[in-house]
Amino acid sequence: MAFRLSPHLTVMANAAQKASKRLLRDFAEVEQLQVSVKGPSDFVTQADLRAEQTLKEELNKARPGYAFLMEESGASGSDNWSWRWVVDPLDGTTNFLHGMPHWAISIGLEKRLPDGTTEVHAGLVYAPAVDEMFWAEKGTGAFVNERRLRVSARREMSEAIFATGIPFGAVSASRRQSFSRTLATLMPQVAGIRRFGSAALDMAWVAHGRFDGYWELGIHPWDICAGVILVKEAGGYVTDVQEGDPLATNNIVAGNPHLHAKLREAVAEGMVRLA
Ligand code: IPD
Repeated sequence: MAFRLSPHLTVMANAAQKASKRLLRDFAEVEQLQVSVKGPSDFVTQADLRAEQTLKEELNKARPGYAFLMEESGASGSDNWSWRWVVDPLDGTTNFLHGMPHWAISIGLEKRLPDGTTEVHAGLVYAPAVDEMFWAEKGTGAFVNERRLRVSARREMSEAIFATGIPFGAVSASRRQSFSRTLATLMPQVAGIRRFGSAALDMAWVAHGRFDGYWELGIHPWDICAGVILVKEAGGYVTDVQEGDPLATNNIVAGNPHLHAKLREAVAEGMVRLA
């Protein structure tokens, strides 16, 4: 994978490839464990932690001094960082646990600007089971493997397929209700709604034009950081439910330029009606 990768993306791709080898072996093992009494749960937790460790070591070796925000181990490095890796070693953990091949390694790279604000500078989402590597860097476009990506050109809601994350587990009643209301608004208008279980791949698929948009409330920065730059560099829009930064508010709406506003309106309405 040497095609047009910048020094940063080369570091990210090498780290992801190294971590993916062990994850792929573990994934094959999970299928055996499905039928055991104990089940694969602890095993997958260990696989996740090992992948995070490998990624941290590799990224740190190549760029000592960069800070980290990682799903399992949280924030580390200087608070006053200039560059920060934002990493989910295994996005789509539940899919992995159930032997479904839709999971990915997600690595975002944030940069602090002279005015003190931060932006996503580069992102890489690697789905090892299908060997699709999505990558983007500010100003240089978005790619899957060696192919340039553009978001879809669909303009009509009636043709659109949107991805989302369905709240699960101990989420607040307001989050559950917001989701249900938005779903009820969108269902009759669109061609389909999908919940595939990996936010990083949902974003990568918006960049690819497979999905026309994606929304999720209460999403973590490591799930979406790389995806933010993938969608933007593929010509799409990414916001929270208003005009804000999803990495700050944990709510995200991404889409092609024709449908982003309509999707955001439906998500905002679902939330507003709770007030
Ligand atoms: C999850 C996935 C899922 C999304 C959840 C995330 P994980 O990440 O991205 O699609 O709906 O909100 O927590 O736990 O598999 O890394």
